[in-house]
Amino acid sequence: MRVKHYTKRDFPVAKIRRFLEPGPIVLVSSCWRGRTNIMTHGWHTVMEFTPSLIGSIISDDSHSFEMIRRSRECVINIPTVDLATKVVGIGNTTGADIDKFEVFGLTAAPAVKVKAPLVDECYANFECRIADARLVTKYNFFIFEVVKAHVATAPRFPQTIHYRGDGIFMISGTNTRQYRRLFRPEML
Ligand SMILES: Cc1cc2nc3c(=O)[nH]c(=O)nc-3n(C[C@H](O)[C@H](O)[C@H](O)COP(=O)(O)O)c2cc1C
Repeated sequence: MRVKHYTKRDFPVAKIRRFLEPGPIVLVSSCWRGRTNIMTHGWHTVMEFTPSLIGSIISDDSHSFEMIRRSRECVINIPTVDLATKVVGIGNTTGADIDKFEVFGLTAAPAVKVKAPLVDECYANFECRIADARLVTKYNFFIFEVVKAHVATAPRFPQTIHYRGDGIFMISGTNTRQYRRLFRPEML
């Protein structure tokens, strides 16, 4: 494949997230004092293999923030494109006002290791406990350890949705093994 040369322009630094964000949009579910909630979430990052650590920015304006900070737990759920309308609706509303499982017709299934429920309709569910809360006050940055994972047996590559900003989702698509042989085995 020919390597491209791009013509570039200055770009507002506050908007560069559009290029870095596209991990899958997830739904973060929580439970505190018998009440459950769900938020739509894009600002997450893998931090370590073992223990399995995920970093996550959760706004202190959200209802989820205190639920997760106090319970020290959540579930990271991976929705697929068939749930996109609900994903946007969950991001547009707050659990301070409504029961999002009820309003969006989603099933709260019991988790194994945490009290927060799994969103059963999602392709995968990762049960998490807070591993380190030292950056929560300064950056709203939670470091979670995934303590249990549930992943659908098929399809192998789900159609996850990835946020590009400005109301645009990229739907995961083409997969290729074409470059696999170039990897050092330990990097696979
Ligand atoms: C595509 C998308 C991605 C979002 N990503 C985040 C995020 O990473 N962190 C965050 O705090 N809020 C994020 N939000 C906003 C929350 O989902 C929104 O504030 C939600 O209403 C919070 O719900 P809650 O008040 O019930 O916790 C996102 C919303 C959308 C639509």
